[in-house]
Amino acid sequence: MDIQERERWGTRIGLILAAAGNAVGLGNFLRFPVQAAQNGGGAFMIPYFIAFLLLGIPLMWIEWTIGRHGGKYGHSSAPGMFQVLWGHPVAKYLGALGLFISLTVMMYYTYVESWTLAYSVFSALGYYFDISDFAGMRRFLESYQGLASEGHFQGIGTAYLFLLLTFSVNLYVLYRGISRGIEALAKIAMPMLFLFAIVLVVRVFTLGTPDPTQPEKSVWSGFAFLWNPDLSALSDAKVWLAAAGQIFFTLSVGMGTLHAYASYLRENDDIALSGLATATTNEFVEVILGASIAIPIAVAFFGVQETQEIAQGGAFNLGFVSMPIIFTKIPLGQLLGTLWFALLFFAGITSSVAMGQPVVAFLQDEFKLSRAQAVGLLGIFAFIGINCVVFFLGHGFLDELDFWAGTFGLAAFALIETILLCWVFGIDRAWEELNQGADIRIPAFFKFVMKYITPLYLIVIFTAWTIQDAIPTLGLEGVKPEDVPYRWGARLLMLFTFTAVAVMVALAWRRRRRNGLETFERR
Ligand code: TRP
Repeated sequence: MDIQERERWGTRIGLILAAAGNAVGLGNFLRFPVQAAQNGGGAFMIPYFIAFLLLGIPLMWIEWTIGRHGGKYGHSSAPGMFQVLWGHPVAKYLGALGLFISLTVMMYYTYVESWTLAYSVFSALGYYFDISDFAGMRRFLESYQGLASEGHFQGIGTAYLFLLLTFSVNLYVLYRGISRGIEALAKIAMPMLFLFAIVLVVRVFTLGTPDPTQPEKSVWSGFAFLWNPDLSALSDAKVWLAAAGQIFFTLSVGMGTLHAYASYLRENDDIALSGLATATTNEFVEVILGASIAIPIAVAFFGVQETQEIAQGGAFNLGFVSMPIIFTKIPLGQLLGTLWFALLFFAGITSSVAMGQPVVAFLQDEFKLSRAQAVGLLGIFAFIGINCVVFFLGHGFLDELDFWAGTFGLAAFALIETILLCWVFGIDRAWEELNQGADIRIPAFFKFVMKYITPLYLIVIFTAWTIQDAIPTLGLEGVKPEDVPYRWGARLLMLFTFTAVAVMVALAWRRRRRNGLETFERR
């Protein structure tokens, strides 16, 4: 029998940093400000905190529980973990959904991450410092992305180079493994991230009112925009959906990356406190640090109205257009720009390696591939998708993947795992499993939440999404006719990815049966 010693985390702090690195990502610094600005600032924060309490924290615990439990049986990816919870043959294909989502999100996430590395270099070299207006800076971004015929860059070459670099570093970290790769990376990247973020936040606070003749444009109005609750928007379902979507994305729940991390724990290692620490660290970084950079600084220079318009205009405008403009206007702008984009890069890479790990672990566990082989296979597959994202970016390819995998998919997966753990496996056993080795006492209130509130909330969100967004999105409403084929291309890619993953799962289970290896065998 081929039982090999499982990889393990090196230290507790290393594990926490790695899990926090998984959660803290581009979502905290880029996605959160955009979502908040698009959904009315203060109006967004109440549904956001409710979703954190009733979806985020419970799902965090659910995922760590499934992960550590699955690890006991030698599984580090969702197909095997789900099978352990539910003996039915369908369980493994539900788990395949997790591999599919991680792989798909990785395809576009890595590309955006590579922009941050490039922009960090551009800031250090002062590349964009001759541009002073919004349109110019947008053109700079578009020319970098290969979307504009004229501008600073000829073609996609520069962007492609940074992508190759970023992607290789990701694969290298995965190749190094759990403790020598992912954990080692987190131990460097996370402290740097905190340091850079604090420097930027302090700078934002000391910015005050940059133009005294326009007192309404100040960082304080930026904070007021975010933190003055606007109760009138609470009846708008869109805001609730956006808040839930942000909670999923930022906490990294709903695709199997946290499960993978938890699976490298031992049976009696705590997961209750570690899960909570991961969630609270992420929220600190998001609502204290993340919320204190892009929005207040944009409001200080452009005002509330225009900041909202900037955010409406595109997901990357706040981070890659308005921030650079401001760097050109303030003292030490080059240095601050370098820090901002380096911070994004560190945030991004500790998340993207997490997206790669489930697939690598799946190939290692179920096919007994070596780490190098597993990483190679992941690399080849992901690279196909990344190239589609690079070359079809202007046609909404990224948006299509982001909606189906990065939004809808997360909610679907979260609903499935909640039902599997709290209903099929059973809430009493789940609760016992969660509390085994726990360093804190979780209030019994959460047992009730995990069993009833979280799944109900998820069903409501999921249904609302289907009605409000999925059906119009499916029908490609509002999509430019020339982009329609590309949107379908993105769907084909997803179909292909899911099929490939499902076939691999089927093969893995055939192999298991042939080797007389039970899924339920304890390691
Ligand atoms: N949480 C990360 C961010 O905020 C992204 C991420 C990593 C993620 N793993 C995930 C999102 C799993 C959803 C599911 O950028």
